[in-house]
Amino acid sequence: MRLCGAEPVFAVADASTGFKLSPEVLDAAITPKTKWLILNTPSNPTGAAYSADDLRGLADVLLKHPQVHILTDDIYEALVYDGGEFATIAQVEPKLIARTLTMNGVSKSHAMTGWRIGYCTGPRQLLQAMTKLQGQSTSNPTSISQWAAVEALNGPQDFLGEWRKVFQERRDLVVKGLNANTGLDCLTPQGAFYVFPSCQRLLGKTSAGGAVLKTDEDFVMALLEETGVALVHGTAFGLPGHFRLSYAAATSELEAAVGRIQVFCAGIS
Ligand SMILES: Cc1ncc(COP(=O)(O)O)c(C=O)c1O
Repeated sequence: MRLCGAEPVFAVADASTGFKLSPEVLDAAITPKTKWLILNTPSNPTGAAYSADDLRGLADVLLKHPQVHILTDDIYEALVYDGGEFATIAQVEPKLIARTLTMNGVSKSHAMTGWRIGYCTGPRQLLQAMTKLQGQSTSNPTSISQWAAVEALNGPQDFLGEWRKVFQERRDLVVKGLNANTGLDCLTPQGAFYVFPSCQRLLGKTSAGGAVLKTDEDFVMALLEETGVALVHGTAFGLPGHFRLSYAAATSELEAAVGRIQVFCAGIS
């Protein structure tokens, strides 16, 4: 954003709202100079998924501010749990279509991260400007990847139901394990494949290996060094006192990782 001369403003969405941006916080963050709202649902790193009702609340705010465009990153569309239905803002409020850029891709829904295919739709003028810029850049997705994505999207999608089921089981396994008397506090997210627990209660203490855990970064570094489990600290996502765990891994690996996290937490004093 700064490359384009823009100043990013972070609208905080913490555990108190299930890591979802509230209409009040959005409204307070918008100024006459605001150009874009970047929205991501289901979310990386928290797994929060906005319902149509949640988006309705945000849409009502956005209707009051016609200068604001919306970029919605819907890449985790296929991964919504507990029978919840995916919703996107242009569908919830068609009056916003003319200023919404809706993005998606095959990285998550079809496990095709390495194929580098994302796609979007939005106002024609904006798409034309994006095409102009991209057409002159040397980085581009190969035609092989493009045809693979066409096959992925036009092919059978019935495997997604089974995926959702397995991911939901992995989510539940991880949430239960992290909340099992560890000192961590983990909400149950509705989508994507991440959990974003708080390690706040363990900060200020010392690990079994002697590391002083002043921050979330100290926590994840000590965990990595003492147990080999890799997590991303919440500060990297603008929310200190938390960390992100991805459960896009084999169930047996997740069981082993959660076990090691439990032992690590038990050793903190
Ligand atoms: C929020 C979000 N958007 C988009 C992507 C897709 O990235 P890519 O298609 O470059 O792998 C990811 C992947 O991590 C993501 O978390």
